[in-house]
Amino acid sequence: MTTKLYLDPAADLNLILWGDPQIARIHPDREENLAAACETVAAADGRADALILLGDVAEYGAASEYATVQRHLAVAARNTDRIFCVSGNHDIRARSFRRQCARFSDFLAGVPNGVPNPPGCYWFPAVIKNYRFLFMGADKTCFEGTYLSPAQLSWLAEELDAAKEEGKPAFVFNHQPLLHTNGLPATWGGSGSWRGSVGDQNDALRSVFKRHGGEIVYVTGHLHAGISRCSVEHSGRLHMINVPTVGCPNHPENDAPAQGFVLRVYQNRIEGRGILFRTGEEMDESIPNARFSIPLPCESK
Ligand SMILES: [Fe+2]
Ligand SMILES: [Fe+2]
Repeated sequence: MTTKLYLDPAADLNLILWGDPQIARIHPDREENLAAACETVAAADGRADALILLGDVAEYGAASEYATVQRHLAVAARNTDRIFCVSGNHDIRARSFRRQCARFSDFLAGVPNGVPNPPGCYWFPAVIKNYRFLFMGADKTCFEGTYLSPAQLSWLAEELDAAKEEGKPAFVFNHQPLLHTNGLPATWGGSGSWRGSVGDQNDALRSVFKRHGGEIVYVTGHLHAGISRCSVEHSGRLHMINVPTVGCPNHPENDAPAQGFVLRVYQNRIEGRGILFRTGEEMDESIPNARFSIPLPCESK
């Protein structure tokens, strides 16, 4: 029996979320997982509004690695209207910030339906069917955490307030989760006071989320953690979704390859489904957060 990824034409939005492909020549399994996942999207029943990759696209940030990802995303692009990638620490570390930022933008410009980051930075907004999508990224070279400039944090605050004014949830995409959320530090290996999180500017970012906007969906990668009870966490109107890696092995207990989420966004709720993207089948519902729902109290204007 053929299993197909199902995308709901009745939803306002169908979003596909993948974490960390982290393509590297020395790890061919990662490319195999990504290739299979892209074929699954191409063969889906229904069309996606967006495919979003949550950073660590390339293990070493090399041009040849991005070329490989480009080739596979071109397959997924047959059945998705837009492809976005946020940058991760592996994309930017040990590289010239300016040159790597341009490389990342060129990479996305070369993907059919890809949406490149603007010149000189990784953060930018997009509007899809009246929903605001806010893509974040480091403003200087960082090894593991992320540095968010005052300009980026001000921009984020303004965008969140605008979404609230419109009566819509805002979707925010960044590589690293907030400190002590989504199972940190255990989901990062269990040690350290900040590791696995945004890092030094965790409190500044959390403060923006606390003081601005209405319903906020904060979507991250970085942890390589399979879908579990830690994948989705709520703090009032802030909803934090951590997405497993589509390329690397996932840990700890749920190690199925090429995991990800589909979000179906409706006026009054968001439905999440954990998907095994090698085949497109839904993850067994006995796994916590393989299916979840976020009610949206906002009223559309
Ligand atoms: Fe990663
Ligand atoms: Fe990472």
